[in-house]
Amino acid sequence: MENLKRPIKKAVFPVAGLGTRLLPATKVMPKEMLTIVDRPLIQLAVEEACEAGIEEFIFVISEGKDILIQHFQEAPLLMETLRARGKYDQISKIDKINFSDSALKFVRQDKPLGLGHAVWCAKDLVGNEPFAVILPDDTVLSDETCLKQMMGGYHKMGGNLIASCEVPIQDTSRYGVFKMIDRKDNTFTVQDLVEKPDPSLAPSNMAIFGRYILQPEIFGFLDEHEKGTGGEIQLTDAMAKLIRHQPFYGYIFEGERLDCGSEIGFVKAQIAFALKRPDLAPDIKSYMSQKLKEV
Ligand code: G1P
Repeated sequence: MENLKRPIKKAVFPVAGLGTRLLPATKVMPKEMLTIVDRPLIQLAVEEACEAGIEEFIFVISEGKDILIQHFQEAPLLMETLRARGKYDQISKIDKINFSDSALKFVRQDKPLGLGHAVWCAKDLVGNEPFAVILPDDTVLSDETCLKQMMGGYHKMGGNLIASCEVPIQDTSRYGVFKMIDRKDNTFTVQDLVEKPDPSLAPSNMAIFGRYILQPEIFGFLDEHEKGTGGEIQLTDAMAKLIRHQPFYGYIFEGERLDCGSEIGFVKAQIAFALKRPDLAPDIKSYMSQKLKEV
């Protein structure tokens, strides 16, 4: 009998996308390098993975996105300068995002063929072990990070686990959507998945959020390279096939969901994250109340 509770040590970050919803900001700069207060989106995602016990970080990148890797590599000149100036606070900020070459892996996705294809590109680096997938645009503001919450569920149930959240029914055509049964507290069994259904056809209003824990058997289905919604190879379609063979759960996480791939989500995230910072919150609050009086 296969062991579906093996520890998760690797995470895949599909970061090859063009970020067109945030143009012109993303014309040259990868959207994952845009910052929420002082940290790029990719750093928030990697820090979340670290907190959940991930030890190997696999980036699926495209042309022009090497800067995402560089962000986590040593910067000797900068360090030297900071040391010479005695800026130890700044050094500690950089120190914690220096990863060894063995922890940081990357693979190129040469064509934008979809999320399923991006994850498939990481197949050799993941190998035959369960892994996490994090979509860095999907940010959560919570006491315990989303992936760590999911790890708690995975340790109990094993199998495959997808983060899930409620969305307005008219928005289902923007998400993967669950057909679910047996909801208990914050988990449910997934019966089926549909990528971006029209609201009239959506099996529920529970949407896939960008955190996944998957068994390596998913690659068998991604190998098929079958095109789905939007002519893209969808991760949702491969998962829908795996559901027939392995346990599959939805996990309703706690926290505020912020879609940083859209302008409004991005602005909300700035405010929400800044308000969590004790050094910034008082100023932000008084500035906001002043501004609200003006509108
Ligand atoms: C992707 C997935 C979708 C999921 C969404 C979450 O869609 O395909 O199932 O609900 O991420 O953000 P995308 O936003 O890349 O179109």
